[in-house]
Amino acid sequence: MLNWDDPLARVTKDTPRPGDGLQDNPTLMATAGEAPVVDPHPAVVDQALSALGEEQAQVGATGLEDIEMGAERIRVDDKRIINCRADLNQLVPFKYQWAWQKYLDACANHWMPQEINMSADIALWKDPNGLTEDERTIVKRNLGFFSTADSLVANNLVLAVYRHITNPECRQYLLRQVFEEALHTHAYQYCVESLGLDEGEIFNMYREVPAVARKAEWALPFTQYLGDPHFHTGTLENDQRLLKELVAFYVIFEGIFFYVGFVQILSMGRRNKMTGVAEQFQYIMRDESMHMNFGIDVINQIKIENPHIWTAAFQQEIVDMIREAVSLEAQYARDTMPNGVLGLNAPLFEEYLQYIANRRCAQIGLPEQYPGVGNPFPWMSEVLDLQKEKNFFETRVTEYQTGGALSWD
Ligand SMILES: [Fe+2]
Ligand SMILES: [Fe+2]
Repeated sequence: MLNWDDPLARVTKDTPRPGDGLQDNPTLMATAGEAPVVDPHPAVVDQALSALGEEQAQVGATGLEDIEMGAERIRVDDKRIINCRADLNQLVPFKYQWAWQKYLDACANHWMPQEINMSADIALWKDPNGLTEDERTIVKRNLGFFSTADSLVANNLVLAVYRHITNPECRQYLLRQVFEEALHTHAYQYCVESLGLDEGEIFNMYREVPAVARKAEWALPFTQYLGDPHFHTGTLENDQRLLKELVAFYVIFEGIFFYVGFVQILSMGRRNKMTGVAEQFQYIMRDESMHMNFGIDVINQIKIENPHIWTAAFQQEIVDMIREAVSLEAQYARDTMPNGVLGLNAPLFEEYLQYIANRRCAQIGLPEQYPGVGNPFPWMSEVLDLQKEKNFFETRVTEYQTGGALSWD
């Protein structure tokens, strides 16, 4: 039983407690110097805004504006995805029902990594004859890539995207998405811990293994640009920057860069190998597919509300970026799978990437780039359709949803 007066009473002396390893307070205070004087007015942002001059009228709200007593009530028509001046602290009235619905659906899909049984994976991993070296490489590379990739996505949302999305129902979904990204990083850490892998090796791969590093290096500059406190939307150039960044993360990073890894790990699950890891990935892929679809809805809504930014030259820029991403991910397939394994090989992946790139292009209103390519992994869409796929890996019912989906009728 928990002791409500002291919830941590049950912890043993080996359990880390807050404050362990810290220097004592008098020592710290002796070296701390004067307390800083805090100016409640964010001077840097003020300066950046006044530097924008006339264009400032277009800059959107942040939710940090002073409260205006008796101001007019918000109408649906006041709401816009970017550069909106209407109060962002009021969720309703809803304008974008699709965003609110995705928030509800995401909550209904709630899951936790510890709920998945990893015992078969642990036995298989420990068995010297359980897996081939190529199969072990696939598991480790993907844990290495994804364990930092989801942190990159979370940081991008919190430090770059959120501030520029001026709509509360979309922000509500973003908050849910950020938590899911934390769950994904948790899931990878849980796999690493369960299998007893060298966490230093796995978590450092993004700066030690070129195939992993390249994808992270590709994505980071987008976050850096939008995360700069001096960056504001409201000009043609900057609105295009934001839109390009949304394509980079939602359509490419989460919509293309994740898919070689998803196919590789889920292929193992289909062959009854590493079924726990595969099930973790299956839940993650369900979340990711919703993230991507939310991003695509946001991108298309921004296009509808700001048709002037979707110029022919800009569309070409986006097409070039998607084509470049397909080659980068095809390279990742070659690097992670030099010999072909599990009935998979690099040319099959190249075709698959072109197939999904065609779909992504069509979803954001761009011409398909790779005419006539087919889907070499049709089973992937079945895995995604979790409602139909009960016991895909014969571990448990994967259509599991939480109480968020209860009906009171
Ligand atoms: Fe994720
Ligand atoms: Fe995601």
